[in-house]
Amino acid sequence: MRNNQPVTQHEHLVPEGTTIISETDLKGVITYVNDDFLKISGFSENELMGKAHNIVRHPDMPEAGFADLWQTLKQGQSWTGLVKNRCKNGDFYWVHAFASPKRENGKIVGYISVRTKPTRAQVKTAEELYRRIREGKAKGIRLNRGRVEPTGIRSIPYKLADLSVQARILIEITINAVILALIAYFAFSLAEDTDCKTACKTFQGPGEKSVEKFPPQVVYCPAFSRRILECYQWTSLPKSEDFIL
Ligand SMILES: Cc1cc2nc3c(=O)[nH]c(=O)nc-3n(C[C@H](O)[C@H](O)[C@H](O)COP(=O)(O)O)c2cc1C
Repeated sequence: MRNNQPVTQHEHLVPEGTTIISETDLKGVITYVNDDFLKISGFSENELMGKAHNIVRHPDMPEAGFADLWQTLKQGQSWTGLVKNRCKNGDFYWVHAFASPKRENGKIVGYISVRTKPTRAQVKTAEELYRRIREGKAKGIRLNRGRVEPTGIRSIPYKLADLSVQARILIEITINAVILALIAYFAFSLAEDTDCKTACKTFQGPGEKSVEKFPPQVVYCPAFSRRILECYQWTSLPKSEDFIL
């Protein structure tokens, strides 16, 4: 973890309409910077090109923020978040960064970051959050693609939201299929139960015991043919293969 020093408490506000751009190779080595990057950071192009991007790292930025950035980019996804950077002279500037992989022929060949002016409310929130993370007081939350998310069971809705559309459709179809299968199973059991009672009634004949007094094991018998069989056994009637099949 690089610790760029010294730092001052003097902030440079990113001017409205400014777009600070840099590009890196797969290892985070700077391959391009635009003029706005040079203006706000105070570095020259020569001082930045070919250098690791942590050259502008501010010590107030928590390690977890960059771990999240790199994990996201390596997964081929884009990352959005607030970053506090250090100017060459130790001053600092806050940016709203959008970083993304750069692809050629479908292959990731490097990364690009486009930064704009953040709102003061965003800066205040990020300042507070990064302080809590640095001090180890950010329990129960984590950074994911630059967003703050809860950990544990409360993270499930966030994880679902992160799934691709195809994966979400697949999950929805599976849940619906399971619900339909359960409904069909209960409907079938109900029909079976009625069939069994009717069948037993038919075979009991007049004057036999009432079908409502079925022993419980008959009622819970799963397969139709077995129910009838047990029904015969109970009523002591001869077994009729024709009826069972
Ligand atoms: C496209 C891209 C842009 C980056 N921009 C910044 C940046 O503006 N400031 C910064 O501190 N780190 C930036 N990083 C992250 C750095 O590569 C590095 O992970 C970070 O400074 C922490 O470095 P350290 O762990 O060596 O201290 C960027 C990385 C990539 C891939």
